Amino acid sequence: MSKKPLILGIESSCDETAASLLTENEQGIPTILSNIISSQVNVHKEFGGVVPELAARSHVEKIDMIVQKAIDDSGRKIEDIDAIASTAGPGLIVCLSVGLSFGKALAASLDKPFIAVNHLEGHALSPKLDSNLNYPYLLLLISGGHSQFLNVQGLGKYKRLGTTIDDALGEAFDKTAKLLGIEFPGGPQIELLAKKGDPNKYILPKPIFNKGGCNLSFAGLKTAVLKISKKIKTDQEKFDLSASFQKTIEEILYKKTKIAFSEFENQNKVSTKKFVVAGGVAANKNIRSILKKLCEEENYQSIFPPIEFCGDNAAMIAMVGLEKFKLKQFNNLNYPAKPRWPLDENATFLKGAGVQL
Ligand code: KG4
Ligand code: ZN
Repeated sequence: MSKKPLILGIESSCDETAASLLTENEQGIPTILSNIISSQVNVHKEFGGVVPELAARSHVEKIDMIVQKAIDDSGRKIEDIDAIASTAGPGLIVCLSVGLSFGKALAASLDKPFIAVNHLEGHALSPKLDSNLNYPYLLLLISGGHSQFLNVQGLGKYKRLGTTIDDALGEAFDKTAKLLGIEFPGGPQIELLAKKGDPNKYILPKPIFNKGGCNLSFAGLKTAVLKISKKIKTDQEKFDLSASFQKTIEEILYKKTKIAFSEFENQNKVSTKKFVVAGGVAANKNIRSILKKLCEEENYQSIFPPIEFCGDNAAMIAMVGLEKFKLKQFNNLNYPAKPRWPLDENATFLKGAGVQL
């Protein structure tokens, strides 16, 4: 039996301090030995969003303990680790620096390779944590900071098909929640409140619905929610607005994913067409079911990471580390933290006033 690589993944790009030990079995299927996540929700709650300085301080306070726990829970020894993979971007630079420096220092002291991981690549590969997924596949990445359709052709090989031109979808959920007086991060709460409301009560705009290919836009929707929220008096109206928002998002994603399907098919000639939805918002069950329905209609295989791997975690960072380790894609210890690090470096930046679609 050959020795399988043992990878330590470290994540600190935003408001989760996380560490995970990962290996693979004889069949090459990843095996998570430990997965520790410490969320800072309580630190940021009263501010209605992540405060970078407080987030960084909390990472500094917890990182040693979280990494130690990940090692203890894995049943392995620190000296058994073959490589250390840390998130290097994108994210808040003061937060990234904590996990990145810790990972580099540990790699240096153990004399093991260091691997710099793109957080978005972690989300992109997260379904591999529990399934045998081969390239290429179409990815819809919907998180608190990003909303993109990507043609995933291989490790490190991404072609962006569409992106949001303003807010990310998670951001739109969180801002809507805030307007309704729900504590940060409100995305999951909107999903729950929506179940008690009438989805047809309010007609909300669907920006760039009929233009811009599979690019997305949510800022106009937020403005409409703002106007309606000022007139809301009862809980039932709150539920109705949540339900109308959730329904509008489903309609936007259904239509834009259909467009992304045809763009993906133009770029890839494949017999099995695969569609992956990843990132924090992929935990939304109604979004999952509407996209699953579309996949059935269009003959796509739909793949979702388990709910616990949709949000930020270090197992997905270790997963990228494992793939890079096998290809000997190591990085120097002077690798910088990158606040902006697109998966498709060639794609045009599509944000701000005057964007041409
Ligand atoms: O991927 P993630 O954990 O962090 C980033 O990399 O951004 O995504 C967090 C985002 C937050 O905006 C949160 O409100 C949203 O995902 N989210 C949801 C749900 N669960 C998390 N949005 C809608 N429905 C959910 N069930
Ligand atoms: Zn994330």
